[in-house]
Amino acid sequence: MSKLGKFYITTPIYYVNDKPHIGHAYTTIAADVLARWHRLKGDMVFFLTGTDEHGEKVAAAAEKAGQTPKQFADSVVSTYITAWKRLEVGYDGFIRTTDPNHAKAVQDFVNKMVDNGDVYKGKYEGWYCVSDESFWTDLQLKDGKCPECGREVKKVKEDSYFFRLSKYQDALLDFYKENPDFLSPRYRANEIINRVKDGLKDVSISRTAIKWAVPFPGDAQHWVYVWVDALINYISALGWPGGENYKAYWPADVHLIGKEINWFHSVIWPAMLLSANLPLPKKVFSHGWWTAEGQKMSKSRGNFVNPLDIADRYSVDALRYFLIRELPLGDDGDFSEKALIARINGELVADLGNLIYRILTLAERFAGEFRGSPELEPKLDISKIESKMDDLDTFGALNDIWGFIREANKYVNEKEVWKLSGDELSNALYNLLEACRIISILISPFMPETSSKINAQLGIGPGTLNDCRFGRFKGRIKKGEYLFKKVEQKA
Ligand code: MSP
Repeated sequence: MSKLGKFYITTPIYYVNDKPHIGHAYTTIAADVLARWHRLKGDMVFFLTGTDEHGEKVAAAAEKAGQTPKQFADSVVSTYITAWKRLEVGYDGFIRTTDPNHAKAVQDFVNKMVDNGDVYKGKYEGWYCVSDESFWTDLQLKDGKCPECGREVKKVKEDSYFFRLSKYQDALLDFYKENPDFLSPRYRANEIINRVKDGLKDVSISRTAIKWAVPFPGDAQHWVYVWVDALINYISALGWPGGENYKAYWPADVHLIGKEINWFHSVIWPAMLLSANLPLPKKVFSHGWWTAEGQKMSKSRGNFVNPLDIADRYSVDALRYFLIRELPLGDDGDFSEKALIARINGELVADLGNLIYRILTLAERFAGEFRGSPELEPKLDISKIESKMDDLDTFGALNDIWGFIREANKYVNEKEVWKLSGDELSNALYNLLEACRIISILISPFMPETSSKINAQLGIGPGTLNDCRFGRFKGRIKKGEYLFKKVEQKA
């Protein structure tokens, strides 16, 4: 995936009906970790996120707030931008679907589908879930409700343009076969493949009733369906068709998404690209869903976890660490403060914080040079970590990095470093300082702030993946505060 030396990763673009919650933060932080990792490797990286601003859902939220959709979108977008800044999300592009160049790209794209003979006019009759902005047939409904989110659906009967999705059934199945990594993680692939094998129905791509949208090219009565508008963001943000970024970065290496929007990304989007004669992304990775303290998060329950509250209470890096360390990227999980506190105390304070503090205390006191032979180096398998990160196994990679942190602590204890002196102490400190320097590089994608703090204490600048080999320690030690504070576990 990364052999070309470029890495284009995207998050979904989030609806601006409300401020971000922990679910949105999860995808965005996971994508940020991967983007930072590829920057460490020296890849040319483009990390895109943004907001999905058109459609019925946003229009309804704006109306409720007594604002125009654009005014409302502007205010919610700023909550996203503030949140990502606070959570150390270093994106390269932030797309808003209300950007004028995006609207132009959507119209150009639809025209390509029309030119290819893939669009025809008809009448849509069926159900619509406003929350998911998705069409459903009678058969798909579950107990008369949206099969995806369980909310009420409404009857829709309107003129519509349709996309000949059915035409692409074989091409999609061939594509999945030839590109076994496209549908990721693998255990989610069969669900998509079986549904495509069952047959594809043409899909509605315009609405007449919803006017908070991109005007449909060539027909003043129609507006582009919000999902078609939204998916095109992945190329419009790169300046498609002519943009330099498009030439440099497309196709995407990874579309990172939540599992509920897999169909749109793994079936509709590739078919649209086939219709427009454009290259397909290399991978769609659908991650799992978080519950909050054992409950599904919902407006009616009012239990959305605000990531900024968590960051204020425990630190940004504790939050970032927890989200990645608690579960593999594909799995579902539960966000609980009890679990978060257990990881802070057990892993951030006791493993990492303690290691740095102990070593720097000894190193600061030591007057000689840090010289020795790299005894700890064999405990670290960088290529294994690298291949896990390439497979988007952020959980496994972080686990391995932690294994090395624990090895370093074990080394301190087994050697009883505090009792050593002279050459023996010099050798032990050399090993431990080099270990700390490398640990700081390896954790930097996950916990950028902590990595900077460690670097400051070691008196070194930021490193790259190439620097993750034992060499000569060149820092100037200046021990600081403990990196993390122990948190009282609530009863
Ligand atoms: N606007 C569409 C996406 C268009 S992409 C071309 C959309 N937006 S959304 O605001 O509803 O965001 C959905 C995404 O938020 C999910 O795909 C996932 O990335 C994230 N999550 C929302 N709730 C989540 C959880 N409870 N748990 C984990 N992630 C979830 O869908």
